[in-house]
Amino acid sequence: MAVENLYKVLFFLQSAAFTLFIINSYRSPISVHTPVERLRAQSHCERKPNETREIFVTARPTVSQTNEVVPMVFRGPLSNCSLADIKKRPGVVMLTTANLAFVDVVLNMLESVRRVGVCINTTVIAEDRKAYDLLLKYAKSDPAVHVQLTNSGEMDVIEHPRRHRSQYYGIMNKRQSYMLALLEQGLEVLFSDSDTYWFRDPFPHFQGDFDMCLRGHTPTRIIKKTDFCAGFIYLKPTNATIQFVRGWVGVLDSNKKKGSYTADQSVMNGLLKADKPVHVNIKMLEENLFPWGPTFFDSKWQKENHPTVVMHAASIRGHPAKLSKFKAFGMWHVNEKALML
Ligand SMILES: *[C@@H]1O[C@H](CO)[C@@H](O)[C@H](O)[C@H]1NC(C)=O
Ligand SMILES: *[C@@H]1O[C@H](CO)[C@@H](O)[C@H](O)[C@H]1NC(C)=O
Ligand SMILES: *[C@@H]1O[C@H](CO)[C@@H](O)[C@H](O)[C@H]1NC(C)=O
Repeated sequence: MAVENLYKVLFFLQSAAFTLFIINSYRSPISVHTPVERLRAQSHCERKPNETREIFVTARPTVSQTNEVVPMVFRGPLSNCSLADIKKRPGVVMLTTANLAFVDVVLNMLESVRRVGVCINTTVIAEDRKAYDLLLKYAKSDPAVHVQLTNSGEMDVIEHPRRHRSQYYGIMNKRQSYMLALLEQGLEVLFSDSDTYWFRDPFPHFQGDFDMCLRGHTPTRIIKKTDFCAGFIYLKPTNATIQFVRGWVGVLDSNKKKGSYTADQSVMNGLLKADKPVHVNIKMLEENLFPWGPTFFDSKWQKENHPTVVMHAASIRGHPAKLSKFKAFGMWHVNEKALML
């Protein structure tokens, strides 16, 4: 009787050991000595699971259940998107711009986009050569992130205060021509300031019949009254949008020729209120889903648990103030001091 029980226990132990062996071999394929596995163990693409970096993701081969190595899908280091992911949203681009002083802010925004899992063909226009080199270094050959050097004259690398109008608005007022060039290629454009933070996919909010979709100070548009924010706009390449943006660029350029750097947003609002050069159909973004800085960072508003889609740190003025807010709210993911060429 005792002997029979001993056999049962031994049999159980043996089965358990075998099961453990299978689980272990499955979890750590590197320890299994097939030629393919040995190759994989040496590959640069293999990293220890805990070896994560803040904003850089390493592509690695996918291993199927049968341990065959499936062809590697290259995912961009900033976006974690493959070219196939980008092609799933044809005809749509995201556009943002930065000089060197705001490269970290752009990288932080892109990191928030990556965390949401949105794949979008993104163009980042660098306003100076150093910003270009730095962005290019981090984007590498990310299929989602295209870095371009400005085609309208390089700007200073530092952040200028608003009162230095030719530098501050100089940078802001170049962006409308970039939008126009994309619209003229028939692309839908999501223009986003670099100081936005994405919590959810905003694209479902850009559905419907409109020329431009953006946020205003009032919940509904009251023509001749409502002021809009020019820092986060979804534009469709309709005739009306293209004529409107051409008109906008025209006013900014003619002011500049007269030595006057008017705020891009004031010019946009002036034209929208006057329905010039054409009337544009506007879809308004909900203020609780697309909050601006002062609202979002208010502790009372935070307690209300709004399902924020994209936060725009508008009205939080200056790079240091923006960073300290992002950091205080756990929304800063870049080691800005380590950013270098
Ligand atoms: C990258 O994307 C793939 C596919 O969606 C996902 O399985 C993986 O977890 C992502 N990696 C990171 C670090 O987010
Ligand atoms: C991404 O956008 C650019 C325009 O900036 C366009 O030329 C390119 O074809 C797009 N790529 C994909 C994969 O859609
Ligand atoms: C847009 O304008 C072109 C000419 O500029 C015209 O041929 C076309 O019909 C217009 N399309 C719409 C949808 O109004």
